Amino acid sequence: MIKAFIFDLDGVLVDTAKYHFRAWKALANEIGIDFTEKENEQLKGISRKESLELILGWAKLSISEDRKLELMEMKNTWYLQFVENMDASELLKGVREFLAQSKSLGLKIALGSASKNAIPILEKTDILTFFDAIVDGNHTTKSKPDPQVFLMGAELLEVKPEEAVVFEDSLAGVQAAKTGGFTAIGIGSEKVLTQADIVYKGISEIDPKSLLKDF
Ligand code: BG6
Ligand code: MG
Repeated sequence: MIKAFIFDLDGVLVDTAKYHFRAWKALANEIGIDFTEKENEQLKGISRKESLELILGWAKLSISEDRKLELMEMKNTWYLQFVENMDASELLKGVREFLAQSKSLGLKIALGSASKNAIPILEKTDILTFFDAIVDGNHTTKSKPDPQVFLMGAELLEVKPEEAVVFEDSLAGVQAAKTGGFTAIGIGSEKVLTQADIVYKGISEIDPKSLLKDF
């Protein structure tokens, strides 16, 4: 029986995946390199440090740890500028309604995000109060596809992985959910999220009640 929903943040609840992409691209260009939108799929869901390592790896660039810290700081400053004036209008379609319906069905709700900026984003978009538990990049030691973030969320909600559904837009996140023993709902493209139990284009396409019947 499903007792809880665990949501990824960027690209599932809020339209911030585009800002992460924009900020990483600007950062890459700053150091004379670039990457494609296809490669960007691999950056979704993983930590800031691992994202930088991947970008540098694609360009076969090796730099000092101090320079890496500088670059991560730069990327985050740009990202924070993009989200500074964000409000509830940047929630993805149907998100607020979906959270409210899930609550009224008696489900527990957690956040399972790699981002260290999760709480301010939930505050700006006015959905923080829906969450019974929040696990983000400030709490985890292992990045998706490791299931740690979702297992911590389930533990805080006092549910077993098989009693929770994870909503994810990233390859790494879907993999993390499946490895952890959760049902994984992919948000995005079926062609990309091949390991998900089912894929929807967006939250607005899902009816929480029928989802509970199916899983
Ligand atoms: C994930 C995003 O949610 O968080 C990634 O999908 C991002 O794109 C990662 O890099 C870390 O985010 P932040 O805000 O801590 O840099
Ligand atoms: Mg995401």
